Amino acid sequence: MAFAQAIFEQYWPCWQQLFAPTTRLYLGGVSLSALVEGNGSLLTEIAERYLSTEELARWNGFSQEKRRNEWLGGRLAAKLAGSALLGEPEAGWQNLVIRTEEDGRPYLTAEAGKMAPFISISHSGVLAAALAANCPCGLDIQLTGERIHRVRERFAFPDEETILQSSLEKSFAETERLTMLWAAKESVRKMIRSSPLLGLLEIRLLAGHGGQGTPQEPLLLTFASGREPGSCPPIISVLCFFADNLAWAMGCLPNITKE
Ligand SMILES: CC(C)(COP(=O)(O)OP(=O)(O)OC[C@H]1O[C@@H](n2cnc3c(N)ncnc32)[C@H](O)[C@@H]1OP(=O)(O)O)[C@@H](O)C(=O)NCCC(=O)NCCS
Repeated sequence: MAFAQAIFEQYWPCWQQLFAPTTRLYLGGVSLSALVEGNGSLLTEIAERYLSTEELARWNGFSQEKRRNEWLGGRLAAKLAGSALLGEPEAGWQNLVIRTEEDGRPYLTAEAGKMAPFISISHSGVLAAALAANCPCGLDIQLTGERIHRVRERFAFPDEETILQSSLEKSFAETERLTMLWAAKESVRKMIRSSPLLGLLEIRLLAGHGGQGTPQEPLLLTFASGREPGSCPPIISVLCFFADNLAWAMGCLPNITKE
């Protein structure tokens, strides 16, 4: 459970300078392998302890075990991040209800009178992670793997690969660069509310700044969207790094905040 939080708590002081000064965010993570290690009754106990009645009904409705675990892990990670941002104890998780918009976008509801942070959820491999923030946010984690080469034309332009190659340390292989680009674009899609969702080829990488692509020195990628002016911010920044064989990408829209 502690992996994402440990990274966040250690590196947020240096990441903070890459976000707008008013940004408040928290990253939570849940190990799916730890979640399923116990027997079914432990999983049910966890779900009953932390989910609201409506969330529990939804969770019980999933027939596929993998999806059921990912969904639960994402909810727990979002509740963890949301309650940390709100300064609330674990005991209040049942009251932090996560609902879903028609297009699948998750949102947090808090008790009357309390602000509910924006959230973004992602799962890949054995990890579920979530970002909670005082502004619209996007998070994506993606396990590196050779399969990314088969779909590269669906999300990457050759000039974007060139930008990444010159921005990242040479020690990163092509597979890792493509995975980072994929994760970064997915985080932008989640961050920007648009209907339909931005297509991966509508999001264009403009530049990569500084950073080694590690949690200590993340890479800041800047993107522009191909949608008409006014419907999206002109420049969208995403903080990216690799940790534990996963590409991590996260960002928020600083001009729209909840105080
Ligand atoms: C959502 C999406 C952008 C990212 O998915 P992904 O990178 O494959 O998978 P991830 O694990 O990183 O993210 C999945 C999470 O994204 C979140 N999500 C789903 N739809 C979302 C949206 N429209 N906006 C923001 N977040 C969304 C959910 O929390 C989901 O996890 P959950 O279902 O367990 O709650 C991708 O699945 C997608 O393009 N979906 C198509 C959505 C669509 O067109 N829906 C129209 C049908 S109404």
